[in-house]
Amino acid sequence: MADSAAGPVDLVILGGGSGGYAAALRAAELDLSVVLIEKDKLGGTCLHRGCIPTKALLHSAEIVDNINESESFGIRSTFDGIDMAKVNSYKDSVIAGLFKGLTGLIKSRGIEVVEGFGRLVSPTSVAVGDRVISGRHVLLATGSYSKSLPGLDIDHDRVITSDDALTLDHVPASAVVLGAGAIGCEFASVWRSYGAEVTIVEALPHLVPLEDESSSKLLERAFRKRGIAQHLGARFAGVKTTDHGVTVSLESGTTIDAELLLVAVGRGPVSAGLGYEEVGIATDRGYVLVDRFLRTNVPTVSALGDLRPGLQLAHVGFAEGIFVAEQLAGLNPVPVDYDNVPRVTYSHPEVASVGLTAAAARERFGEISTVTYNLAGNGKSQILKTAGAVTLVAVPDGPVVGVHMVGDRVGELIAEAQLITNWEAFPAEVAQLIHPHPTLSEALGEAHLALAGKPLHVHG
Ligand code: NAI
Repeated sequence: MADSAAGPVDLVILGGGSGGYAAALRAAELDLSVVLIEKDKLGGTCLHRGCIPTKALLHSAEIVDNINESESFGIRSTFDGIDMAKVNSYKDSVIAGLFKGLTGLIKSRGIEVVEGFGRLVSPTSVAVGDRVISGRHVLLATGSYSKSLPGLDIDHDRVITSDDALTLDHVPASAVVLGAGAIGCEFASVWRSYGAEVTIVEALPHLVPLEDESSSKLLERAFRKRGIAQHLGARFAGVKTTDHGVTVSLESGTTIDAELLLVAVGRGPVSAGLGYEEVGIATDRGYVLVDRFLRTNVPTVSALGDLRPGLQLAHVGFAEGIFVAEQLAGLNPVPVDYDNVPRVTYSHPEVASVGLTAAAARERFGEISTVTYNLAGNGKSQILKTAGAVTLVAVPDGPVVGVHMVGDRVGELIAEAQLITNWEAFPAEVAQLIHPHPTLSEALGEAHLALAGKPLHVHG
């Protein structure tokens, strides 16, 4: 059955994850007619297999850490173990609540949701079963999947992806984590807190290798203190499954035995078999190519989120979804500024950043100024017993272009940091702002005082 009798809607969206549903919500708000096609559940990876469930596990892990560290705060407590079934039901209840809220929101805006597997069949239409839905514009928002390495088979039992890791019914006694990006570091952190022996294997020389080197080194030190083993600059050679788990071999000849191997070497685009190439959409290794206005080479088709090359973050998907909807409504929105997107790895300790690393800033501007403020001088950090630092990167006599932080809860501080880099504030301007005492946010204020040449709680 074709929908042609009803005429084309304004926007057909393929994929109801963060980017797709944000576009739907904004488009509907702007009085555009929208059909949102989803084969699984609205909310996508972020809500069901990514951001939300991992943060729930990380919160449970933080509670374990608090219990184990409570003596040092004068509180006697006994850790009596982890009930993974209950951890999972807590995690699932968070997802269920948010899912219900999202479904209600979509309904309240009058967005038609079509459940089923959609396939692009022309520059203006998507087929779902025998129904063809036509639109003035089509938005591809089909997201990403957990990649593996050539020849490395995921058996979903001993060799697993983050999807599997989120549904484990027990705490592994030991785990090898392959890849030290956000996914690898977050699971390493959770499992270590839960009591597992954890070994990270990373091909590049540092943990969270895309972050400023100062942050990577602080995380490496913190993870070492927590007993997380690290093989950095190490090439993975292969894995054998055994009766008890896996034996992972590195090219150096080292072997590591563990109960399971988590493969966290990145996420690839979900684009195969969806008709993109047949309709003439330009792709590169499966990623749909777009310009800064998120338009593909086919004028009626846009794409966003994990599907296009670039940052794979839910909040970027939200921003891109809003942009596409506003563009279609003729509002001339400003394209997304990918240089100033806040990034957070929610491990213990957290790593948060916005803007350029020192290395990238040096490449772009030549000379730069940097300052590192150690959380040892920050009262609230001492109360919480968290170690870490704030590093600023600035253009000499110019604006702050990068903020890099490590420490518990610094993820909550990155919102202020992003205002600083996005508004191209100068260190002296931020130094002028009064930060409440005693808060972690003071560390950001103190770092700017230091960069402006008037350090306060810093040894000379
Ligand atoms: P990633 O690309 O960030 O990290 C993968 C790591 O695996 C890289 O450091 C890479 O050098 C390493 N690697 C690749 N091949 C290897 C090999 N053969 N041997 C050893 N190491 C190897 O990907 P990740 O962590 O899987 O995350 C996927 C996406 O999801 C990323 O874009 C990430 O930013 C995003 N994400 C964001 C989160 C957050 O914002 N908190 C949480 C989870 C994921």
